[in-house]
Amino acid sequence: METEQPKQKSSPHVLIFPCPAQGHVNPMLKLAELLAIHNLHITFLNTKYIHNRLIQFNDDIQALLECYPKLQFKTISDFHDDEEEHPGFGEKIGDVVVALSLYGKPLLRDIIVSEKISCMIVDGIFGDLVIDLAHEFGIQLITFRTVSACCLWAYLCVPKLIQCNELPIRGDEDMDRMIRNVPGMENLLRCRDLPSFKRIAKENDHIALNHVVLQTQQSLKANALILNTFEDLEAPILSQIRLHFPKLIIYTLGPLHHHLYTTKKSPSSSSFFKADRTCMTWLESQPLKSVVYVNFGSITSMKGEEIIEIWHGLLNSKKQFLWVIRPNMVQEKGLLKELEEGTSKEQGLIVGWVPQEEVLSHKAIGAFLTHSGWNSTLESLVYGVPMICWPYFSDQQINSRFVSEVWKIGLDMKDVCDRKVLENMVNDVMVNRKEEFLKSAMEIAKLACKSVSCDGSSYNNFRDLIEYIRSTSP
Ligand code: UDX
Repeated sequence: METEQPKQKSSPHVLIFPCPAQGHVNPMLKLAELLAIHNLHITFLNTKYIHNRLIQFNDDIQALLECYPKLQFKTISDFHDDEEEHPGFGEKIGDVVVALSLYGKPLLRDIIVSEKISCMIVDGIFGDLVIDLAHEFGIQLITFRTVSACCLWAYLCVPKLIQCNELPIRGDEDMDRMIRNVPGMENLLRCRDLPSFKRIAKENDHIALNHVVLQTQQSLKANALILNTFEDLEAPILSQIRLHFPKLIIYTLGPLHHHLYTTKKSPSSSSFFKADRTCMTWLESQPLKSVVYVNFGSITSMKGEEIIEIWHGLLNSKKQFLWVIRPNMVQEKGLLKELEEGTSKEQGLIVGWVPQEEVLSHKAIGAFLTHSGWNSTLESLVYGVPMICWPYFSDQQINSRFVSEVWKIGLDMKDVCDRKVLENMVNDVMVNRKEEFLKSAMEIAKLACKSVSCDGSSYNNFRDLIEYIRSTSP
């Protein structure tokens, strides 16, 4: 008599789909690489526009494919087919996200079917888009939020803040008013520290915020959540999220870029611009911890007068600086040339894009003037570099508050853009309070490294995530 053979589990095939923005593609590609190292079958899905940029500016992408035969890239349309009119990935990224959210479902369905996907790891910004698909195909849905846990928690508390009349903030309101109803942050948050879209969305701030809040709530209907943070950094806030969402499995895996460093030599780059490597030679000629590194990320746009204030603040501080001004960041014609010509080679170098992780790990860097994007914050804290924060939008306002008041690894300029304030802060971080900031930055850097080392929390969580993906695949 024939005995029935136990049904063989097929090897899981994971679809990873980031929001088409630099700060989302970077950590999600790093996760893809980590999973590929563990021999999982991965399809990394980009919009055509973003994929073309990745191929154009990163030789590593081809090498990545050769290294991991089970990793493949696929593309989908973002419904902006005219290259000339494409909104890009900067301030107008919302247009692409909305188009994908509205029309992307059939395209995703095709990929799930044709690639026989058994698990999806999808950017939490697409909460609505994927929940039905996961149910339809009976596959695991894991959302990846690229923001900090403190920002995620603040988003989740927005409905309560509205209920308690703490939100919305009126136009004439005192921005120093304390916010009382975000559990775990009672004596910390002022109105000005809440996630905001004001500098980008202006009068429609509440619409943008409502959209993100809604997507955040939807995204927690997934089976599990991945955060690019680590337990020792955000433990009290993670406890709050776990307390309020007891059924949700939360995998804290960060800092993901460092996780890769501990696994192999160096992670692949996924820049949307060509990195200018001349800065590395320039850094080699600078003394230990003498340079202020200035970079406001991939989305921030600046007014001419703000750039001028930052420039004078840096010049007056008398410290050397390396300043990244993206090609699409300055609207005023001639301003960039004026800055370049008015900066002596001895004091400063201005370039268009750099290999940021390499820069931050360089011994010449003494401080980071940053927009407090979550990736930049994590990259800085891993290398023990104190920060001066000038947050732009979204999660950055709350990240900068945590940097200055909770982790105490820097200072927060917040809404102020003033040359004297910047000059003083540079001198505080680099000279007057140097030892104090370096001490706390090195302590946090040690914790970050510990979390991704053997038996650290992120290391163990990653092992559990792989086990979860394998055990739940059909
Ligand atoms: C934004 C948000 O602020 C961020 O918190 C959110 O999670 C994603 O969207 P962004 O403005 O791009 O991101 O900033 P950030 O999160 O810091 O990401 C920028 C990435 O680009 C970093 O990984 C950084 O290393 C990289 N980068 C930036 C470079 O490699 N070179 C550069 O010159 C500038």
